[in-house]
Amino acid sequence: MNSNFKTYSEIKKLVEPEILKMSSVISERIYKTNIPEQEFLNELNEYFKSGSKQLRSCLIFLFAKAINAEVNEKTVKLAAAVEIIHNATLIHDDIIDESDIRRGKTALHKKYGNKLSIIAGDYLLSLAINLLSETGNSKIIENFANCLNALCLGEIEQYFSQKTTPSLEEYIIKSEAKTASLFKASLKSLADLQEKKHSKSLETFAKYFGIAFQISDDLKNISALPQKEKQKPRFNDIKAGIYTAPVIYAFGENKLLDKFSTDEIIKKSGTKPIQEKTKQLIKTQVNEAKRQITNIPDSAYKQAILKLCDLI
Ligand code: FPP
Ligand code: MG
Repeated sequence: MNSNFKTYSEIKKLVEPEILKMSSVISERIYKTNIPEQEFLNELNEYFKSGSKQLRSCLIFLFAKAINAEVNEKTVKLAAAVEIIHNATLIHDDIIDESDIRRGKTALHKKYGNKLSIIAGDYLLSLAINLLSETGNSKIIENFANCLNALCLGEIEQYFSQKTTPSLEEYIIKSEAKTASLFKASLKSLADLQEKKHSKSLETFAKYFGIAFQISDDLKNISALPQKEKQKPRFNDIKAGIYTAPVIYAFGENKLLDKFSTDEIIKKSGTKPIQEKTKQLIKTQVNEAKRQITNIPDSAYKQAILKLCDLI
């Protein structure tokens, strides 16, 4: 099997049949919903398809294959639940961030309003809990209960720390909570389905991978090319007083920035040296992630996972 991967779509092809199975489980659950508003159900179903990278489920399936685990109905349900939780958090996140665009399309709340979008997010969450409970594994329920605690606390922490730069350590802890926790629950649960084979390596890999992923997302919010604005709005974080790695590097830790204009903060945080410093921070996390899986035997799947780390 060729293991010289260059792009994410090449990597995703390795687990395409599993991703297809997972997508049909998601559609099945959405359309089982007993409401007559077909258009809204179509919209929810579409949410999972158009533009979604399905990165979390792709990682679950790649790791399953890398550790020689059986990919069965429970693995597919786990992956489906993870994608559903991820999308539910994005629906709520766009309401909280007052963000109008998601994956290059009008955000759900801009089309259907906050009320219906909040309920839709909650409803998706309930579908995910159904799927997780169908795995019959109480460790998995525990993993996701902890994950949802962390996700919400990460968002609460972010809400209360607006306008002031956090310390780098606080920023990394928040990134672990709001983003890495779902990657962690995903891979730890995969290990729990295999009687904990490689549990610690997978969970710690997920922690560093998730932190790197969030820092990279934060860097893009400040430095992405204008055409990328069509995918996600730029400078949203700074406009909302949420200060991420580039701002911490530009202004220092624990600084109240209320006397600086948004333009000044954007300008100072977007310079080349600040971007380079942030990329270095991402690289440190990525290298830590890779270090966790040295004990997993080499295979095309492992090479794909290592390449995914480099693509962050
Ligand atoms: C994206 O962050 C948001 C998250 C990673 C987590 C959001 C979590 C919640 C809203 C709370 C939990 C919700 C539920 C339904 C349990 P971002 O704004 O930095 O990323 P973005 O650039 O993609 O918007
Ligand atoms: Mg957001």
